[in-house]
Amino acid sequence: MRMWIYVAILSWIFVSSLMADESFLSNDEYAKMLYKNPRGIGCDRCHGSNGEGKVIASYLQNGKKVYIKAPAIDHLSMDVFKKALSRSSRLMPEYFLTDSEKAYLYFYLTKNNLSKKAKK
Ligand code: HEC
Repeated sequence: MRMWIYVAILSWIFVSSLMADESFLSNDEYAKMLYKNPRGIGCDRCHGSNGEGKVIASYLQNGKKVYIKAPAIDHLSMDVFKKALSRSSRLMPEYFLTDSEKAYLYFYLTKNNLSKKAKK
């Protein structure tokens, strides 16, 4: 049995398919992937699938409903956006994103915003 040959061939196919996937990913797809899976909980879980903002949780306080919201992040300046990602907050997890990843996220979110405006 030359089992190891099969194993070697299979792992070669597996590794090359991973590499192929990566190089065929467009900038848009890459940015979207990053938004949903930024090495931590996806931004979309709190900020909504296009950064439009969303209610994360609600609770009752003295009989009144109180909402905890993640703000819309599709209209910020690049500066505000980047700064928010490097400060720590009580509600938002801390991420360790590179500058280029932040830029991809920023363009993903503002691109959506621009196309929304264009449709109106
Ligand atoms: C667990 C929910 C949660 C997740 C996940 C999350 N955020 Fe937030 N984010 C918040 C909340 C709540 C705020 C507002 C309070 C604050 O600034 O901490 C916020 C604030 C921000 C702000 C500042 C908005 C402003 O107007 O100043 C930006 C930018 C931002 N988030 C981007 C992101 C990005 C990009 C990701 C993914 C890498 C992400 N967030 C993931 C909950 C979240």
